[in-house]
Amino acid sequence: MWKRFFSKQARRPSGLFGRFVASRIFDKGNDSLNTSMVALVAARNGDAILEIGFGCGTVIREMGDLVGDGVVEGIDFSDAMMHVAKKRNRHHIRKGRVRLTHGDFDTAVYPDGAFNAVCSANTIYFWSDPSQTCARIHEVLKPGGKVVLAFVDKGKMETMPLDMEVFRPVSCAAALEMLESVGFSSVQAHAVGDGGAMFCVTGLKER
Ligand SMILES: C[S@@+](CC[C@H](N)C(=O)[O-])C[C@H]1O[C@@H](n2cnc3c(N)ncnc32)[C@H](O)[C@@H]1O
Repeated sequence: MWKRFFSKQARRPSGLFGRFVASRIFDKGNDSLNTSMVALVAARNGDAILEIGFGCGTVIREMGDLVGDGVVEGIDFSDAMMHVAKKRNRHHIRKGRVRLTHGDFDTAVYPDGAFNAVCSANTIYFWSDPSQTCARIHEVLKPGGKVVLAFVDKGKMETMPLDMEVFRPVSCAAALEMLESVGFSSVQAHAVGDGGAMFCVTGLKER
């Protein structure tokens, strides 16, 4: 019962639990993956960046500090996370440096070739068709743009007390293969921590 409730909250946080409990769990538990993802995105002045499933919006805020006159866009389908992230990013939002959208990336309308980088942490397990989502990421990137996906590897996930009807874990090898199959080049895995359980995978869209 708790396993299902918690897993559903992780997929799409809602209500007071989402705002006050899930947000704290994400802040603490996802910190190392998020830090590595931000380092690999390496946002620069003038960049246009998209984060899918921004949760509390901390990564958005950090990248907002780096893009100068660029822009960081975020999309998340949780009301609760939208509330938390808007609050955390209010200064950047006011300056037009951050734009947050409430919605599902799979059905969102972003122009092709819009972003220098697209990143996402701890969301791949919830994508209904990860290959198709990766293909769409490829389309919305500019030539030379970068994708960074951060996640806990399938082997580790399967030992965790999570509902596997809600989470669909992905192995690092499968994620690399997926990126290659939709056209990314220079596909690489970057271990996060030293337990072999967490990875960021990256790929480039050909120029
Ligand atoms: C487990 S949380 C991770 C949040 C944050 N990225 C982190 O690592 O702390 C997953 C988040 O992704 C969002 N999400 C999952 N799939 C999504 C999709 N297809 N489009 C938009 N948001 C999505 C959920 O609403 C939730 O806020």
